[in-house]
Amino acid sequence: MNKVTVIGSLNVDTTIKVKAMPKPGETLHAKEVFNAGGGKGANQAIAAARSGADTHFIGALGNDSNGQYMQELMRKDSVNISPIAIKSKERTGEAYIVVDEAGENSIMVYAGANMALTPQDVQVSEQVIKASDWVISQFESTTTATEKGFELAKQHGVKTILNPAPALENISADLLAKTDVLIPNETETEIITGIKISDEASLKQATDKLHQLGVEAIIITLGSKGAYYDVLGQSGLVDAFKVKAVDTTGAGDTFIGALSSVLKTDFSNIEEAIRYGNKASSLAVQQFGAQPSIPYKEQLN
Ligand code: RIB
Ligand code: NA
Repeated sequence: MNKVTVIGSLNVDTTIKVKAMPKPGETLHAKEVFNAGGGKGANQAIAAARSGADTHFIGALGNDSNGQYMQELMRKDSVNISPIAIKSKERTGEAYIVVDEAGENSIMVYAGANMALTPQDVQVSEQVIKASDWVISQFESTTTATEKGFELAKQHGVKTILNPAPALENISADLLAKTDVLIPNETETEIITGIKISDEASLKQATDKLHQLGVEAIIITLGSKGAYYDVLGQSGLVDAFKVKAVDTTGAGDTFIGALSSVLKTDFSNIEEAIRYGNKASSLAVQQFGAQPSIPYKEQLN
């Protein structure tokens, strides 16, 4: 069982189901509205824990009822959140998600406390980082916290996974040099490399460029097409499972969390781990909500 530490965001998601996306100036009746746990970091941690990893989470919450709610959700899934940073001047992160009948979504995020996470909040968990197989982070909380986490990981010889989401135009060369596995989607790959992804040749071109930036392994998630990987001179496309998606929110997070629970740090089972991640996300997209739809190990085996 892998030990996984996630540094990142927690949000309370409000999902609004509509027939079609509202146009500017339009008012329409929503079919349903509900709240659930979300945030890229928290989703990845819960996906790792539900797939069987011994999971720690480093993040920040406001001193409010949403913060209490998120702590309860993380504990219920056995994600160790001690010590979680509480930022009394900030609200807990929130995301407002509109999903239409075709399963397309639009998301607005209010980062709140997530953007108050400090390098010091990460430093206090140095021993947790040291004991990990994988340290994972994204760009939905401060990059300074991510950088601190990766710096500590490298000091202790621990491998890192960066999910560069939401997309950031200028990722520091130093952070990429401390990244062992980069997991971007198509859009994020295009933003980082400047290469338009259209076919396998362009995927290879993009991963070549990312290798030059100092990243050992690259996994590009391609939604319903699966995922493309390039590591240790081995590359290829691992097909997705064909399913009918109703809500893809958190599908990428589910993939990353599930993958991290099984991926060996020498990458010897990379294809198998990607297939496991694909399986988890294909289950997640068939249900509404981010965290409510993340599958458990029993469903995956
Ligand atoms: O990646 C999905 C997540 O992005 C949602 O849970 C929402 O909180 C947004 O941050
Ligand atoms: Na879902």
